[in-house]
Amino acid sequence: MVPDTVWVRVLAALGVFATCASAQDDVITSDTYFYGQSEPVYPTPQTAEQGAWKDAVAKAKKFVGQLTLEEKVNLTAGATSDTGCSGFIPAIPRLGFPGICVTDAGNGVRGTDFVTAWPAGIHVGASWNKDLAYQRAAFMGGEAKAKGVNTLLGPVVGPAGRVVQGGRNWEGFSIDPYLAGGLVHETVAGIQSAGVSACTKHFIAQEQETHRLPTRSGAFAESVSSNVDDRTIHELYLWPFYDAVKAGTASVMCSYNRLNNSYACGNSKALNGLLKTELGFQGYVMSDWGAQMSGVSTALAGLDVAMPDGEGTWGGNLTLAVNNGSVPVSRVDDMATRVIASWYQMNQDKSDGIPNPGDGMPADLNVAHKIVDARNPKSKSVVFDGAVEGHVLVKNTNNALPFDSAKVKMLSLFGYSAKAPNQNNPAPAPEGMTFGDWSLGVQSANLTEVNMGFFGNLNITYSAIAPNGTLISGGGSGAAAGSLISAPYDALVSQCQEDGTMLFWDFESATPAVVPTSDACIVFGNAWATEGYDRPSLRDDYTDGLIAHVASQCANTIVVFHNAGTRLVDTFADHPNVTAIIFAHLPGQESGRALVSLLYGQSNPSGRLPYTVARNESDYGRLLGPDLTLAPSRLQHFPQSDFAEGTLVDYRHFDAAGIEPRYAFGFGLSYTTFAYANLRAALAKPRKSSGVAEYPSAAVAEGGQSDLWDVVALVQADVTNTGPRAGQDVAQLYVGFPGDDSATPVRQLRGFEKPALRPGATATVEFKLTRRDLSVWDSAAQKWRLRRGEYGVYVGANSRDLGLNGTLVI
Ligand SMILES: *[C@@H]1O[C@H](CO)[C@@H](O)[C@H](O)[C@H]1NC(C)=O
Ligand SMILES: *[C@@H]1O[C@H](CO)[C@@H](O)[C@H](O)[C@H]1NC(C)=O
Ligand SMILES: *[C@@H]1O[C@H](CO)[C@@H](O)[C@H](O)[C@H]1NC(C)=O
Ligand SMILES: *[C@@H]1O[C@H](CO)[C@@H](O)[C@H](O)[C@H]1NC(C)=O
Ligand SMILES: *[C@@H]1O[C@H](CO)[C@@H](O)[C@H](O)[C@H]1NC(C)=O
Ligand SMILES: *[C@@H]1O[C@H](CO)[C@@H](O)[C@H](O)[C@H]1NC(C)=O
Ligand SMILES: *[C@@H]1O[C@H](CO)[C@@H](O)[C@H](O)[C@H]1NC(C)=O
Ligand SMILES: *[C@@H]1O[C@H](CO)[C@@H](O)[C@H](O)[C@H]1NC(C)=O
Ligand SMILES: *[C@@H]1O[C@H](CO)[C@@H](O)[C@H](O)[C@H]1NC(C)=O
Ligand SMILES: *[C@@H]1O[C@H](CO)[C@@H](O)[C@H](O)[C@H]1NC(C)=O
Repeated sequence: MVPDTVWVRVLAALGVFATCASAQDDVITSDTYFYGQSEPVYPTPQTAEQGAWKDAVAKAKKFVGQLTLEEKVNLTAGATSDTGCSGFIPAIPRLGFPGICVTDAGNGVRGTDFVTAWPAGIHVGASWNKDLAYQRAAFMGGEAKAKGVNTLLGPVVGPAGRVVQGGRNWEGFSIDPYLAGGLVHETVAGIQSAGVSACTKHFIAQEQETHRLPTRSGAFAESVSSNVDDRTIHELYLWPFYDAVKAGTASVMCSYNRLNNSYACGNSKALNGLLKTELGFQGYVMSDWGAQMSGVSTALAGLDVAMPDGEGTWGGNLTLAVNNGSVPVSRVDDMATRVIASWYQMNQDKSDGIPNPGDGMPADLNVAHKIVDARNPKSKSVVFDGAVEGHVLVKNTNNALPFDSAKVKMLSLFGYSAKAPNQNNPAPAPEGMTFGDWSLGVQSANLTEVNMGFFGNLNITYSAIAPNGTLISGGGSGAAAGSLISAPYDALVSQCQEDGTMLFWDFESATPAVVPTSDACIVFGNAWATEGYDRPSLRDDYTDGLIAHVASQCANTIVVFHNAGTRLVDTFADHPNVTAIIFAHLPGQESGRALVSLLYGQSNPSGRLPYTVARNESDYGRLLGPDLTLAPSRLQHFPQSDFAEGTLVDYRHFDAAGIEPRYAFGFGLSYTTFAYANLRAALAKPRKSSGVAEYPSAAVAEGGQSDLWDVVALVQADVTNTGPRAGQDVAQLYVGFPGDDSATPVRQLRGFEKPALRPGATATVEFKLTRRDLSVWDSAAQKWRLRRGEYGVYVGANSRDLGLNGTLVI
């Protein structure tokens, strides 16, 4: 058995702890010091010829049976290649295996041309539209396929968004595990329908960017340890991974952080236990780039592929470790089998018409390369609808919106987020955007700089906004490359040209002149975020000042934010001249056209917030920002983040603490109105005399014990469009569990449906509640357990507007 906390012991032996004792008396000398400890779970379960993976695993076993040890080991790590892929598992030409091209990321294929910048994860979350999520993923997978990508490095369900200022929250769908779970299921299924493996990431509990990486020079520190209790990890962070595995995700990426003081890519409880035993995951676990911290122990803990390479850990050393008995050959066989099984499972062995790995995937756009136009002409409406449906209208007074073309004859536009950035070009663009990288904002001068301390060796100042142009994506490896950008300004020019509208604009001044006869003024701001850094704030004085300045002179001021996360609005939300507020999130390349369609009523807003907007930063409590423990202290080498709030994040926290949000989770306005009636809630099958069993009893398949997915109860309600326009509503079901423990949220989202309704029309929405939906994690039994008693069932427009209620007794 290899202890998961081996690093702590090594460091203790090296005397590292001595330096952190300083004046404090408690010298940390034992790895049992730390709150969180992961139990050892060995050996790694082998992938099995069963369920949906039966044939693929059988073929893979046969294939791997023909390999030498060196060839098998070659499949367990990336190698350098000229494919232009983010990572490449090398080919075995003698058996016709061409290698596996893995490429960023979950919002589109990155760093290449003739692909689409799709709406980002948070935008998909805000659309609450399962069907659209599937279609987006299917077309995105198709683009990856056309470029010769075998594995797309997405979707993201971790970070979930526990830390409100988290830099990568925008890559995922929602802080709510049920919403994220529903959308990740569709996304995995969609990507894989195109014959491309999804790599659901990041496993697990990487909830902040600060200290996500260890520091090995200068200020020595390990990665932050997310210390998560058993119930919380199941009910919150693991939950959407259940959905991803159920949908058949061929790959899962382990994360940079430590979980309970053991690196996530070497944590046997997480990989062998949770993922490969409890969830029945049949595919391969791939490390985030550089997240493999040791050799033998990660092999035994359940890691299958090291990226970008296994230098110094696996490779020749893995061969040695097998030969000297440290790693059983069965483990390496299983690693290779899982990789090859995914290749068969995606039908990537069928050579007909399949591009070579990395076809048309230039690593550097400045070099001549094979041009492959990967876009499907049929995807256009999905790109557009996806952009439209993630916009959330949260304020609309005085009939400000939609605009009446006949009445809005003079428009004034303000703010740095209205126009396209000055550059959309390959490197060199050191301070600006490199192609598809959206890294602008980092280290930019002036605007709301906040020093965030050390990241690695860098002392970085970080901007809250991207001042150089409109935002369609966040930054880092999840940033998508677009074939073009429709910026709000460009789309408005087209609309105004048609309508004969006079346009004024000033995208530069902090205190612009405002033409007093403007019929409306639109202020465009953004809230920027990127991989690698947490956000310095949820608002900034510059943009709030610009809004206040315009609103003081324009009675019809409309505020639009492109926001890569929560953006607070309380300094102006109640201003009488701020008549409308739109969270435009990160719409992808159709941003401008989608916004104009909404502003002018060609589309009706149907997005809903996938998070809570507070009135004040302090309302989020300790979850506002990341844990910062690098100041000289006993723990400076071992940053700790205790997830002591349990599952009480976002609206669950606001409900439990009785805090009134500014805009509730699930909230969003439409140009029409909806009414709810006739709640019906019943157990799905007539109760047997013995009742529904408390615990599931079926065998584990992909997605856990298969009867977790049995429908236990049905809830129905009628939704009527009571207003003047056609529109889509998002009917939401929340469930209150029986029992009075304070660890259980007051209510939890357990269903959402998005019917499209003409004026006067009624639809019946049906919510299927599975055994898992009505269960809590029972740590003692290590099983999901239905609670006996009365469940409260609530249906309505958002987490704080639940017009219908009823009960279910189990
Ligand atoms: C983390 O540690 C806590 C406290 O020791 C324990 O309850 C929990 O099960 C551990 N979680 C994991 C995922 O190992
Ligand atoms: C392993 O992969 C490399 C390419 O990275 C290749 O050069 C080498 O021949 C492979 N080794 C074996 C034993 O297949
Ligand atoms: C084993 O790893 C060490 C570094 O950890 C490296 O120097 C060495 O070359 C590796 N050996 C082989 C055979 O790959
Ligand atoms: C076996 O090989 C591995 C990899 O080179 C090495 O880390 C380990 O110490 C070796 N074990 C023994 C018992 O020689
Ligand atoms: C972005 O804006 C900042 C601040 O206005 C400026 O310092 C920087 O040069 C700009 N970058 C580009 C590429 O325009
Ligand atoms: C920062 O902004 C102030 C006020 O707008 C301006 O005077 C100053 O020149 C700016 N500094 C930089 C470095 O851009
Ligand atoms: C980090 O940068 C900030 C702002 O640029 C500066 O005030 C601070 O002194 C720097 N810290 C260190 C330790 O260099
Ligand atoms: C609203 O705008 C008008 C100009 O149309 C201005 O006179 C008034 O002072 C503004 N109200 C506030 C509260 O700033
Ligand atoms: C937010 O809360 C802090 C601390 O309670 C308070 O100082 C501040 O004024 C509040 N801000 C707003 C906009 O209410
Ligand atoms: C349930 O609905 C009824 C009727 O609208 C309402 O009076 C009651 O307060 C609601 N109960 C809860 C717990 O929301």
